[in-house]
Amino acid sequence: MTYGVQHFCFGELSWVSSTILFMVLLGLFGSDMTDCKKRQSAAARARKQRSCTKMEDCLIEDQTTFYSKAEHYWKDVPPTVDGMLGGYGSISSIDINGSKKFLQKFLGEGQGKTGMGCSLDCGAGIGRITKRLLLPLFRTVDLVDVTQEFLDKARTYLGDEGKRVENYFCCGLQDFQPQPERYDVIWIQWVIGHLTDDHLVEFLRRCQSGLRPNGLIVVKDNVAFEGIIPDDVDSSVCRDLNLLHHLVAKAGLSIICEEQQQNFPEEIYQVHTLALR
Ligand SMILES: C[S@@+](CC[C@H](N)C(=O)[O-])C[C@H]1O[C@@H](n2cnc3c(N)ncnc32)[C@H](O)[C@@H]1O
Repeated sequence: MTYGVQHFCFGELSWVSSTILFMVLLGLFGSDMTDCKKRQSAAARARKQRSCTKMEDCLIEDQTTFYSKAEHYWKDVPPTVDGMLGGYGSISSIDINGSKKFLQKFLGEGQGKTGMGCSLDCGAGIGRITKRLLLPLFRTVDLVDVTQEFLDKARTYLGDEGKRVENYFCCGLQDFQPQPERYDVIWIQWVIGHLTDDHLVEFLRRCQSGLRPNGLIVVKDNVAFEGIIPDDVDSSVCRDLNLLHHLVAKAGLSIICEEQQQNFPEEIYQVHTLALR
């Protein structure tokens, strides 16, 4: 009688020969299995070590180096959609469509609705979001980015509609002061990881004073599963949702709505969109 593979292997053998066979197999594969486990736990340890709970722990160098390393990194990136998205240019449409659906819930006329006059694109790069999300919805748009080359590219990339861009500010968000009560929407996407915790809180506070009545700040960014994951290549961090919520509250803002972007590739971080005011 056969009862599957296990019976076929051991059922016809005496317990002595089964034991000998087991020892031989252990000799052949046992050490590999132990090595494999060791490797796994070393990787898990490494992952844990790289994830921090306070941003200061992740800043290997001082703050000035943290910012200047990021500036150098972005100066070498091609001014293209693919460059803006770290080689994931193909997800741009999914991203923009998700953002449009999210934002349109708040816009319009009437009580409590967010106006469609002027918006600000923060960490705008070449204006990928300005072109396909903000210019189609708002009368005018301002862009702010630390990389002059990207803003120069934006002037041609935005085409004719770019005439409705009122300002191209070349400035780090850590130093940027939005004009008080100018904006209906301040869009901050894939850039907060370049700010220290304190600078992010201060920047969000300044953004709040840059809002018109019923204005909205939208933060759309990667979120870590747990802790803070530093990226030494572009000199940024990825925070988990708990920390992001904590920093938003510290800035005196409330979360009006929060969604996870759907249909992004599985291998990338989860991306969350938060509407704040
Ligand atoms: C990942 S790209 C995202 C660009 C754009 N938000 C998008 O989604 O297409 C990050 C952008 O942030 C800019 N950046 C990096 N550090 C910054 C800082 N401290 N202040 C303002 N912009 C910064 C870079 O120049 C780059 O354009």
